[in-house]
Amino acid sequence: MTTDQESGRRDNGPQVVVRLDGVHKEYGDTKALDGMSLEIRAGEAVAVMGPSGCGKSTLLNMVAGLDRPTSGLVEVAGQDLGQLNETGLALFRRRHIGMIFQFFNLIDDLPALDNVALAAQLTGTSARQARRRALELLDELGIADRGNTYPAALSGGERQRVAVARALMNRPALLLADEPTGALDSRSGEQVMDLLIDLNQIGQTLLLVTHDRHLADRCASRLIEVADGRVARESALEPTG
Ligand SMILES: Nc1ncnc2c1ncn2[C@@H]1O[C@H](COP(=O)(O)OP(=O)(O)OP(=O)(O)O)[C@@H](O)[C@H]1O
Ligand SMILES: [Mg+2]
Repeated sequence: MTTDQESGRRDNGPQVVVRLDGVHKEYGDTKALDGMSLEIRAGEAVAVMGPSGCGKSTLLNMVAGLDRPTSGLVEVAGQDLGQLNETGLALFRRRHIGMIFQFFNLIDDLPALDNVALAAQLTGTSARQARRRALELLDELGIADRGNTYPAALSGGERQRVAVARALMNRPALLLADEPTGALDSRSGEQVMDLLIDLNQIGQTLLLVTHDRHLADRCASRLIEVADGRVARESALEPTG
């Protein structure tokens, strides 16, 4: 843990990309988050683990601005998300956050390339430029030949790589992943893990929710254990490659 109280300053180590301070989220009588506080700095790869229902996905939804806390501060890339209205939040998310999910969440009636390109078109990039960047990304992720294929005809691993390409389209300050290998066979899962490791090694900040300790150990440098909507423990992880 750092001891500085003014993190985020340039002279204070890497910039703080995510800051939660005393975040509560209630759904009716359920306390999904109960005073969660944490910080993630640029370039970190942080894994979040904890029992089912402890608030991991809720945490990601807060960070992504998909939902708002009942109380407390959520700051991403220096922006207090509480200051943004719905339109502002949606724009912020498109521009600064990439997300990947267990079940890929691709659009079934668009081929892979269009699934990826759409992310940039939604932020105002021209269709031509968006397709060019999408092609580049598919190429980097080893699936350039799958650009015209619809999600239904892709393997799970290929679908997740398309989802990763889509998440990276706008060069997000933060990549969020919720159980990204949960629906994959072990070989495809390992490939996605390798991809996340490579991305982090070139500087991508990563926040990863998982039940899989192997995934955390391989991909993350820090582990945050959550219980009952709060951080129960934080520890450094040794890189295993
Ligand atoms: N939209 C919602 N409406 C009502 N309750 C919700 C909602 N989202 C989450 N919850 C509740 O909040 C708590 C935390 O849920 P959350 O999905 O964050 O858990 P999780 O740690 O991601 O669990 P899992 O490991 O099973 O994915 C649970 O009790 C859940 O039922
Ligand atoms: Mg969850």
